[in-house]
Amino acid sequence: MDMFGKIAFIGAGNMAEAMIKGLLSSGFADAGNIYVTNKSDRDKLAGLKTRWGVKTSHDKAHVLEDARIVILGVKPQDMECALNEMKGLLTQEQLIISTAAGLSLDWFEKRLDKDYCLVRTMTNLPCQVKAGATAVTMGKNTKDSQRFIVDALFSSLGIVMHVKEDMIDTITGLSGSGPAYVYLMIAAMAEAGEQNGLAKEVAFQLAVQTVFGAAKLVKESGIDSKKLVQLTSSKGGTTLAGLKELENGGFTRIIGSAVKMAAQRSRELSVSY
Ligand SMILES: NC(=O)c1ccc[n+]([C@@H]2O[C@H](COP(=O)([O-])OP(=O)(O)OC[C@H]3O[C@@H](n4cnc5c(N)ncnc54)[C@H](OP(=O)(O)O)[C@@H]3O)[C@@H](O)[C@H]2O)c1
Repeated sequence: MDMFGKIAFIGAGNMAEAMIKGLLSSGFADAGNIYVTNKSDRDKLAGLKTRWGVKTSHDKAHVLEDARIVILGVKPQDMECALNEMKGLLTQEQLIISTAAGLSLDWFEKRLDKDYCLVRTMTNLPCQVKAGATAVTMGKNTKDSQRFIVDALFSSLGIVMHVKEDMIDTITGLSGSGPAYVYLMIAAMAEAGEQNGLAKEVAFQLAVQTVFGAAKLVKESGIDSKKLVQLTSSKGGTTLAGLKELENGGFTRIIGSAVKMAAQRSRELSVSY
């Protein structure tokens, strides 16, 4: 079933591929209706075509023609150039969705020649396994029917939350960049297991399943995560010894500053470009 019509991806990087993979596995989009372009990497486009059966082209006019949804998946520093190359090719009927960190709706409005239907999002890499977290701010020209499309598109990739635009930088620091913090934790746990005698693969599988299971439990049980910390640590036990070491190293404070620094970088990006 194709819910969305033609979707044009401008940018063929990590985020575009994650979204394409998630969309196709959701069954709500047809590969034949997904068109992808990038700046110059022909091998990357060929790879996407082979892996996902999507249409690829270096001609932006071809990719954008009759597209109902345009997804901007380029880095913030490349966005201005990409927009210039799309001048005259976008239409006011299209829903234009930015995935870029740091670039505000106002930033886009100032650089585009007309009033387009713009949406700012902050999604994350797990959308490729339909476990993404996406925050959305609808632009002032969007219609209710387009909000429905945005919800359908991103809920096929995970959860969607509509937020005020001034929250997006914090969300970038939390869930946009957050998967990387968790991957680092998995790597650290696996390495610790290995250093203490476990086989590499065993340590890795146990670390991954522990993080996956912990997240699944907190999500499905609805129990507050601090309560779950208490439930897993009995007085004088092993977990408490581990937790004590984490807090001695400033674990909670350091996660707080990681979110804050990434959010700050998102704010800086909007003034740099
Ligand atoms: N990766 C994440 O986890 C993540 C999370 C949240 C948000 N985001 C946001 O998602 C966006 C994409 O990130 P990414 O990680 O996917 O980046 P990426 O892997 O570096 O991909 C960027 C893509 O943009 C293309 N591009 C650059 N200039 C272009 C132009 N003028 N016209 C068409 N395509 C152009 C590049 O093409 P070439 O390869 O040919 O140069 C490449 O395909 C960023 O704005 C980022 O802030 C990413």
